[in-house]
Amino acid sequence: MNGTNGGGIYRNLTSYGDPEFSRFLRRAFLSAAGYDPQDLGRPIVGIADTSSDFNPCHRDMPPLREAVKRGVLQAGGLPFVFPTCSLHEILVSPTTMLYRNLLAMETEEMIRAHPMDAVVLLGGCDKTVPAQLMAAASAGIPALSVVTGPMRCGEWKGERLGACTDCRRLWAAHRAGKLDEAELAEVERQLCPTGGTCMVMGTASTMACLTEALGMMLPYGATAPSGSGDRLRQGVQSGRRAVELALQRLNPTQFLTPAAFENAITVLMAISGSTNAIIHLIAVARRAGVTLSLDDFERISTRVPLLVDCKPAGAGYMEDLYKAGGVPALLKVLEPLLDRSALCATGKTLGEQLSAVAPPESWQSTIRPLDRPLSQGRSLVVLRGNLAKKGAVLKLSAASPGLLQHRGPAVVFESPEDASRRIDDPALGITPEHVLVLRNAGPVGAGMPEAGSLPIPRYLAEQGVKDMVRISDARMSGTAFGTVVLHCAPEAARGGGLALVTDGDLIQLDVPRRRVDLLVSDQERAERKARFVPPPLPERGWQRLHCEHVLQADQGSDLDFL
Ligand code: FES
Repeated sequence: MNGTNGGGIYRNLTSYGDPEFSRFLRRAFLSAAGYDPQDLGRPIVGIADTSSDFNPCHRDMPPLREAVKRGVLQAGGLPFVFPTCSLHEILVSPTTMLYRNLLAMETEEMIRAHPMDAVVLLGGCDKTVPAQLMAAASAGIPALSVVTGPMRCGEWKGERLGACTDCRRLWAAHRAGKLDEAELAEVERQLCPTGGTCMVMGTASTMACLTEALGMMLPYGATAPSGSGDRLRQGVQSGRRAVELALQRLNPTQFLTPAAFENAITVLMAISGSTNAIIHLIAVARRAGVTLSLDDFERISTRVPLLVDCKPAGAGYMEDLYKAGGVPALLKVLEPLLDRSALCATGKTLGEQLSAVAPPESWQSTIRPLDRPLSQGRSLVVLRGNLAKKGAVLKLSAASPGLLQHRGPAVVFESPEDASRRIDDPALGITPEHVLVLRNAGPVGAGMPEAGSLPIPRYLAEQGVKDMVRISDARMSGTAFGTVVLHCAPEAARGGGLALVTDGDLIQLDVPRRRVDLLVSDQERAERKARFVPPPLPERGWQRLHCEHVLQADQGSDLDFL
């Protein structure tokens, strides 16, 4: 694989109808960039850079990028950095999920369009990693994921703080009148004290752990803190390994096998990870030609207890998991439940890799043993019923046990905007028994924002109400908590069950029976369905393309033609 055999710089030639001329032009223009034949004979490793001033989670990416480049050079490769778009959860409107597929498409196309023999994908914030994995599965060249790593914890009044479980908790306390403006301002400066991704087991941390479990990242790559020496060494090692992957021609589909996804879902349950990971894993699997359904998550959740003590399901933070031995130590504990034959980024099987890993040490309490889990209960459940014929999910570890069997009248919000406008209006007369329904917030309706964990109406929060049943076709942040039914499919904008609810209808949530139902007659629902008019699609651009082709949540919400 070098510049003389069609690999390296001569891959994917620009089309002029004369390949020799194309090669000649490449040499000419690259000589302007200071490259000579010795450089151009090396394997090329592309480095997808998602740093951006709009992405504070990727603030430490420039030195990480340089570390990867150093590793590539040391191993005899030639690094080429290329930019792709960057998605930051808090700075993208209306939601990054609307653009995950755009980033996946852009990354795949840029990999295909350029001469590279392997690619290192630098990501971190929630949607960047799944988008890059989707791209890698489709692009068909060796790929390795490297994340910026989690932030370190902040501190306020002697208490450790972390984004964004504590953001939500303290905001709820503010709404309930328990935290004044001055205190809120102090907290604001401590929630995100360093570069890196949210340091609880939110979507970014979850996806980092799952990527390592999938074998698409080197061991210990998920948890090393952003900006740390360990993080930079991960970068160097990944650069070196990417050159080897290029020479060995080990493509992502050799890692992304059914066994790898089983292992990743097992880890998802043991960390009680973000519900968003369900959508992302299904999307990545689909790209890799692996069939994965909500039933696989339900099946695996029955045999995996919660082992990792990390917010929001536990009390710790990612730096605790890092100190406890990271994902390799967790995998060691989970080994009896894993498929040890899965191939990993190191080129070894998971079993070979784990033979060199020690069990978590006794001084730590973040990773619990299988016989003394943090919770024997299941992390999540898949629900079906006339409100979600194709499925919905509920994060059991974040829900209130007393609400898992609940019947109450519906209060319907037509969109996230409608909810934020009206939810605090006392005229709605909402009681803790009501079921808050949010619709038109699915993949087609609104790009599927993390709006599913609707706030408790202020006047109820002030009375001490902390949780209510909420049902939507939206997503929820991995850092959030509550009895929240998410991802209802088909969504309301596609005429799913949520579209048929009216204020005051009785809704029944029955988690033991895995049901979520609207308690009106079949005939009444059929009549309402006949009157259903879908909302208009956006007029132009990416949003139009997205709405015309996006799949429902149970299918991973990728575009149907990808
Ligand atoms: Fe980037 Fe949380 S906002 S990981």
